[in-house]
Formats: sequence, C-alpha cells, structure tokens
Amino acid sequence: MYTKEQVNHLQEKTTELLNSSTANFSKEIILDLRAVLRFHEYRYYVLSEPVLADYEYDQLFRLLMQLEAAHPELVTPDSPTQRVGNSLNQSFVTVPHLVPMLSLDNSYNAEDLKDFDRKARELSGLTEIEYCVEPKFDGASISLIYENDMLVRATTRGDGVEGEDITQNVKQIRSIPLSAPFSSKGIQQIEIRGEIILSKQAFDAYNNKLVQQGLAPLANPRNAASGSLRMKDPKEVAERNLDAFLYHVSYFILTVNTQQALTTHSGSLNLLWEMGFRSPKEEKVVVQGIEGVINYCLDFEAKRDNLPYEIDGMVVKVNSLELQEKLGMTSHHPRWAIAFKFKARQATTKLNTIEFQVGRTGAVTPVAKLTPVFLGGVTVSSISVHNEEYIQQKDLRIGDTVLIERAGDVIPQIVQAMPALRTGDEKNIVFPTVCPVCSSELFKEEDEAVWRCINIECEAQVVERMIHFVSKDAMDIKSFGEANVRKFYELGWLKDIPNIYHLPFDKIGAMEGFGKKSVDNLQAAIEASKQQPLYRLIYALGIRFVGETTAKTLANSVNHLLDFTHKSEEELLQLEDVGVKVAKSIQVFFHNHQNVEMLKQLEKIGLQLVNTKKETTIGGSLSGQSFLFTGTLTKFKRSEAEEKVEALGGIILGGVSSKLNYLVVGDDAGSKLEKAKKINTIKIISEDDFLELIK
Ligand code: IVH
Repeated sequence: MYTKEQVNHLQEKTTELLNSSTANFSKEIILDLRAVLRFHEYRYYVLSEPVLADYEYDQLFRLLMQLEAAHPELVTPDSPTQRVGNSLNQSFVTVPHLVPMLSLDNSYNAEDLKDFDRKARELSGLTEIEYCVEPKFDGASISLIYENDMLVRATTRGDGVEGEDITQNVKQIRSIPLSAPFSSKGIQQIEIRGEIILSKQAFDAYNNKLVQQGLAPLANPRNAASGSLRMKDPKEVAERNLDAFLYHVSYFILTVNTQQALTTHSGSLNLLWEMGFRSPKEEKVVVQGIEGVINYCLDFEAKRDNLPYEIDGMVVKVNSLELQEKLGMTSHHPRWAIAFKFKARQATTKLNTIEFQVGRTGAVTPVAKLTPVFLGGVTVSSISVHNEEYIQQKDLRIGDTVLIERAGDVIPQIVQAMPALRTGDEKNIVFPTVCPVCSSELFKEEDEAVWRCINIECEAQVVERMIHFVSKDAMDIKSFGEANVRKFYELGWLKDIPNIYHLPFDKIGAMEGFGKKSVDNLQAAIEASKQQPLYRLIYALGIRFVGETTAKTLANSVNHLLDFTHKSEEELLQLEDVGVKVAKSIQVFFHNHQNVEMLKQLEKIGLQLVNTKKETTIGGSLSGQSFLFTGTLTKFKRSEAEEKVEALGGIILGGVSSKLNYLVVGDDAGSKLEKAKKINTIKIISEDDFLELIK
C-alpha cells in the first residue's frame, strides 16, 4: 500500500508534527496530520506492526482535533477524527444490498471437495480449475459501499437481501479505511464483503471485563462481534476493539473509459490490500486443481490454534471471475465457492468430581467438573454427562483423563475416557438414591434414563421453576434473571411464582448493588409481564413436555386457561403435536389442587389467563399449512420465521410426521431432514424458498 519513499516521508513528517503545536496552523498541517494518522492506523490495525507509541498517536490525534475545532470548514468526512461516534442511541434502518448476500455450501472432507470440483469441471467443460483458498473467518458478515473513494454505507447481512445500516458503528473499526483510493483504479462505486471479528486477545479482555462487573462472559468471539455491531452507542463499539477482514468484491461500477479492473478473485484480494484494507492476502493461496486445495486446507487446519483470531474452516473459490459468472448459483449458494469446515476441536483434561444438579422437573443431572481447559474459544470447566446410563456406557470414573470436544457453537461433550492413562486411584461414580437437595427418595420411570426427585416442593425445583418463569422465552421479565431469583429466594421473599408479583421493592432498593433505576426497571418489567399472551404463560409454567410450540397449540385450543381442568385425555390427544405423554402431563398439572390455586392467584394479580387472541389468522396465505424448521438458519431467526408463519395463518409443528407440509432446511440439517425425505407428502424447501413463499 505504501511505497518505501512514502514510508520514509511519513516517518519524517511524524517526527516533525510531534514537535508542532496548534499555534503553527496551516491547511498543510491538517492534511499532513491526517496522512500521518492514517499511516499509523494502517501500521497498527492492518499490518499489526506499529512504529509509533500509543501516547504519541494520541498526541497527534489531539492536535488534529484542536485544529479542526478551530477550523470546522476544513473537516472532511474521512478525517481520522470522524470515527469518534456521536449519535447516541442510534436505531438501525433496513437497507437493500446491491447484490444479495449468499451463504456458502459446506464440505467436511476431501471427498466433499472432490465432488465440488467434479461438478464445477463438468459444468465448465474444463479439465482443471484454478482455485483461490483462504480462511473462513468466524465473525459477523458485513457489506461496505464506497462511492467516489468515501465509505458511504456499512450493513449487516440481515436476511441476505436487506440488512441493517450500521455505518456509524463500523466507522469505529480502525482497520476499515474511511476513504480508499478506488478512483485511481477507475472504480467509482464498489460493494465489498467481509467479516467483523474479535481477536482472541480482544475477546478475552472483553470477557474479563464482563466477569469483573459480575456479568456472564460471552460464549465465543463470533457472538461478541455480531452483538457489538448492533450496539446503540458507537463509543462502546470502539471499546470492543473490533477488527475486519475483507474477502469479496460483490459489485463495482467503473468510470467511463476504464478497462475492466478485476479478472480474478485473488486479484480482488490484492486490490483490497493495495487500497488499505485487511484482506487475506498472505493467508490465501492460488492452486491448480483440487488436490492442492485439499492439502492447503489440511495444512491450515493444523495451524489454526497459532492464529491470533478464530477461523472455523477455509473457503475455496474458483479464481477466474469469468468462470464464476459462468457457474452461477443455486437458490442458496454460489456454485463457484464452498466452505471447508474444520473438525470439532478436542482437548484432554481431568474429571475431578461429579455434581448432581436437580432441575425444574426434578430430573437429577450429573455434571462433570473438570480442570478448566481452553477449547474452541471458551474455557470449559463443567460438562453435563446426562444420566447414569451415559456414564456407564462411557465408563467414566472420577480422576479419569477425558477427551472432550466442541464443534462450533455446540455445547462441549465428553467423547471418551482415556483408560490407558488410569493410575488405579480412579473412583467409580455412584449415583445418589436420594435427592441431593431435599433428601427425598429418587424414582426412575420404566422407559426413562433419568432419576427424578418427585417432591414438587423440593427447594431446587421451586427455584428452577421460578428461573424458568421469568426467563426470556417464557414471561421475559427483563433484568430479573437467575441471580436475582436465587438472591430473593434466600432472603425469603420468593417462595413461589405469585410472590414474583409481590416483591418488597423498598427493601430491594436498600440492598447493595440495586440503584433506584434498576429497581424501577425491575418493577416495570414485572408489571409489563402481566400482559404477556396466554401461550407464554403456559410455557412459563414449566409443565413437563410442554415446549413453546405445544404451549401455542394449547393456548389456541381454549378460551380460558382453567378450561384445562376439565379437558379429557381424548380431547387433548385431538390437538396437533399432543401425544399420550404430553396429554398425561397436562392432566397431572391441571388436576393438582395447588397448581389450580396458583393460577387463580395469578389471575387475581392481573395475568392473562383468557385467550384474547386466537393465534391462527383465518384466511392467511399459509392458512392450514404446517411448517418445521431444521438445521442452522442463516437468513433469518427461527423465532421470527415461526412468528411469520403463524401471522400468515400457518402452524408450527414440533416434529416430522405425515401432518407436516413444509420442512425448511438450513445448514447442517440432520435426522429431521432424513426422516422427512421418507415421507413423500412433505415439501422440503430451502431458506430462500421459504422467503419466496412468505413474500
Ligand atoms: S465468501 C458469495 N469468504 O461465511 C460468497 N465468506 O457460510 C460470499 N465467511 O456468510 C462469502 N470467511 O459471513 C466468504 N473468506 C470468506 C469468508 C466467508 C467467512 C462467512 C461469510 C458467509 C459465511 C458463509
């Protein structure tokens, strides 16, 4: 990006400017300061090779601020001072992408890659194809538009067709230039795609800060990056130290009389690098034929832990842009690119002890406590080992060295114990016969693997039920949370669910850590929850086997919640998604005198037990059609899609059966897809098909 002469010149200018003051004002000084600051931002954020101390950078930055404040007519939108955010509480407007943002098809091994290559060769008629291979960055995708060299817009991916305008936040990312000399290449407008990431170091620093503030750390850098992009306050975004890799030119307009500027993908990456962006210039390779691609992917996988940022695979792209165009795309993916996903990360650690935790339904879950180990972006110190059978199958013992793994966002698992490393001091895991919390006898149903405490007064269950009641997907009482439920329970203010609506706010306000504002917020959130629709209340009650989907079906089938006290099992079985187990569980709940009393109390308090809004929209475009979503959805959120289906009169089913009309398939779909393939009447559709259907 900078020639040797330019570097020498900018270094000299830096020394000169460090000795100047606001008194030496001239227009040239402002221009020099900008050039020098941009140069040092580039060294620091793009090359990671700073040649200036932080305090010296700050000194120059302050000088520019002062001069611009005195001469506002000279401020330009791409001045380094213009990154500093000022629009507090911004809202994000939805805007269309110039070109839809597609996702990539996945491959997991050499065979998949060979298959991809074979199809590309067949379609193109070529015997060998040139590929460009680069890392698959694990972050949040963005799209940037530069017009006449200025960054004019940055957007999130959104549903792939339109995204949210996050320009102000993206300006906080120092490795993204506010202006870039595209016009020198005859490019008037350009749309660039890339990934916002958090380095492992920035992620750790941020999580440490959260923990110090008593907050929960974030699961992985990807979540941290996508959350950061939608922060209301750009200043907070700046504090997160986000970074960006730009890896794709999706669109450009040339100025009149300019020759085609780009012919290969690797050329695009080089151009972006030359324009001052962090593109995978060094990390990429151009190879002829798929064998070289496979070798590069496997070599890179072996090195992934040495990188300062997370990658979850490689991306293989046909290098010729002309050939890319010829190959085109399916409704989901380009046919000229594929992601190669890395295998799950594994580590070994020690199983120190087993803790038995009692859940909301009395299920006793053994949790392995491990010597903390860093695995795929997070520190793992405990893993659920599900039940007694699972422990026996894996032959786990206390003191064992265990192999654990974590694939992407998936919860870590114990793969196996390592018997060869046993010393003889290991101890068998003995399952308790009584509840570890209330000491009542544990029971196991015939067809179940789980031991259960059936004392519904058991302290652990009472607390877990309340935690579930206030949680996001249930009554969504914001700022209540698990910690407060536990605290208020210990203080004796929270013995059962109705107590949530009678909390002593004066006493809470006097507690350490509760300011007036937080008490007001909590009180308002509790009050607001009284208006939650009936299906949320049903789900919040935590009736066994009643998930969100069944809760909606149940809510739609009655006029008042207490109607369930006189519904027969046969009547319940008529409902969509309700089988014998679910029907029995609903009956047990509504035939319990204490539960009925609690519901009456909640109604008196003002909660919605009446079904005010029948959920199905009669005559909607999806009326009578049933849907199920499976796999990782990349174009929309599952909950939003489900709401959309319902708003259009369709229904959501909980599993694959002959009653299902549409299965919407995201990435990495598994058993549901396989099952659906066997039922002819089910239409298996992609996310794009779904978007088309609801248009
Ligand atoms: S190319 C049309 N290259 O992976 C092709 N994507 O599942 C556009 N990603 O949504 C994507 N690193 O957010 C491409 N080097 C890379 C990438 C990359 C990460 C993300 C991107 C995309 C997702 C695909």
